Amino acid sequence: MINILIIHGPNLNLLGEREPKVYGSTTLDELNQVLFQKAQDLQVELKFFQSNSDGKIIDFIHENRHWANGILINPGALTHYSYSLRDAIAAVSKPTIEVHLSDIHNREPFRSISVIKEVCIDQIVGLGIQSYFHGLERLVQHLKG
Ligand code: DQA
Repeated sequence: MINILIIHGPNLNLLGEREPKVYGSTTLDELNQVLFQKAQDLQVELKFFQSNSDGKIIDFIHENRHWANGILINPGALTHYSYSLRDAIAAVSKPTIEVHLSDIHNREPFRSISVIKEVCIDQIVGLGIQSYFHGLERLVQHLKG
């Protein structure tokens, strides 16, 4: 079985009510439900995690490093500055895909910088919740070789 960590960063617990024009009206629970269904179709296992703290996300990655084959992560604003999250991804050395609901390359200039990108095999942006679905499919494709 292929095991994948699905990680949502800061403020993504408020999906659905947070700036819906930018991030859509789907809640985090609804998004995770659809991801769970897609994982069943793809015959992979998912473990979900959301935190507003980079330390907790890093601990989760460390704790699950022997279970996980790959990581799908929307790091939220940590994308733009968290070298410790970048180092954690590099440290566990699992294929990782970075996803964003919005198009970070066409918003405020600070958002177009990702310090995570170089330790990921792909970055998918701007497709709303479809970013996650494409990301999951691409990761599974990569892991199944
Ligand atoms: C985000 C984009 C980030 O810039 C922002 O801080 C988020 C959400 C996205 O999914 O579009 O929290 O990662």
